[in-house]
Amino acid sequence: MKPSKPYQILIVDDSPHNIRALGEILEGNYDVRFAKSGPEALEITFSEEEAIDLILLDVVMPEMDGYEVCRRLKENPETADIPIIFITIKSRPSDEALGFSLGAVDYLNKPFSVEIVRARIRTHLELKAHRDQLQEMVQERTLELEEMNKRLQTEIIKVKAMQEDLIRSKTQAATGRLAATIAHEINSPLQGIAALLVPLMDGCEGQEDLLEIANLIEEAFHRIRETVQRLYHLNLPASRQEESVDVNSVIRKTAALLNGMARERKVAVDLDLTPDLPRIWASQGELGQVFMNLIDNALFAVEHGKGEDRKVSIRTRMAGEWIKVQVSDTGTGISEEDLPHIFEPFYTRRKAGGLGVGLSVCREIIRQCRGEIRAQNAPQGKGAVFTITLSAAPDR
Ligand SMILES: Nc1ncnc2c1ncn2[C@@H]1O[C@H](COP(=O)(O)OP(=O)(O)OP(=O)(O)O)[C@@H](O)[C@H]1O
Ligand SMILES: [Mg+2]
Repeated sequence: MKPSKPYQILIVDDSPHNIRALGEILEGNYDVRFAKSGPEALEITFSEEEAIDLILLDVVMPEMDGYEVCRRLKENPETADIPIIFITIKSRPSDEALGFSLGAVDYLNKPFSVEIVRARIRTHLELKAHRDQLQEMVQERTLELEEMNKRLQTEIIKVKAMQEDLIRSKTQAATGRLAATIAHEINSPLQGIAALLVPLMDGCEGQEDLLEIANLIEEAFHRIRETVQRLYHLNLPASRQEESVDVNSVIRKTAALLNGMARERKVAVDLDLTPDLPRIWASQGELGQVFMNLIDNALFAVEHGKGEDRKVSIRTRMAGEWIKVQVSDTGTGISEEDLPHIFEPFYTRRKAGGLGVGLSVCREIIRQCRGEIRAQNAPQGKGAVFTITLSAAPDR
């Protein structure tokens, strides 16, 4: 292998006579440098801009001997691969052994034979060139493999996202079919209620208490009708109406709607709402549906729990840029077995009357609001806690 430029060889010897003799052998074929002491050799090797390709190193030198120079060069990853040939008067086998053990590639005795020095240098430079080339190939290959690995990782992420989309669209299709059936069933009695609402409101005229209840019923009616409309269209591309929404106000209204039901079941609904929360961009009806489902579940759990303390608490908090809503109860809690599945469509533990769609609808709605909903059990083992995180950063 022919190098593109001459090899750089460093001769290290404290005797000017030896330096001259070795230099004469090598000059012409190689680029030769000299150092008259160990420290000077280290300085040249460490600071050399053009890397040294081989070092001829004397052992016996004042200040720092050749073994120490060798040791220091081998310690440094930058210089560890430079082939070192000792040229020395120390000719005992133990000296030679020490030289090799320090990482030298060869050990020549003084006085040296010109031919042998030339031949050994040639051999070791060739070996080094091969080694360098191999290293380069390995590096290239490693880079290629790393690149391929990166591409594979990206592909895996894409495939995973596709899989998730597929599962989502499959469950959405199934939910959609079922939803349309349910909506159809609810729609007929709903028409009946619509017809009765007008005389009811008229009848309450002048009676503030009753009128307030009738208004709540009317609001609930509209919400049910909206939900039914949405159920019809669950498998069609959504045409939801988003607006700027005050989360606290949606919670208050929903809790008021369910107040009667809570009282009937002797459950207290506690609201702990942080005032002046930033408004979020969402569909008010859908968000109301989320709290409706969560409170409904909580009331059910408290009713079937054994605790004396029968309570559902809803609190809102700011956490940095996020609004956190927590709906917690003192009910049955969620078993470890159920916990990973409760957000799946049609997963229910209710013996009767539960379709298992409440939480899956919640999750979908919150996802559309670019938020997140999580479930866990209360730390003291009393009931369940549902946490919703919504971005308060205005993105519209
Ligand atoms: N607050 C809670 N405490 C204990 N378990 C809960 C709570 N909320 C939900 N779960 C569990 O998660 C299951 C799924 O809830 P989800 O609201 O999706 O369906 P459901 O309430 O059973 O029926 P649906 O909401 O369709 O009427 C419930 O059956 C129940 O086992
Ligand atoms: Mg439910």
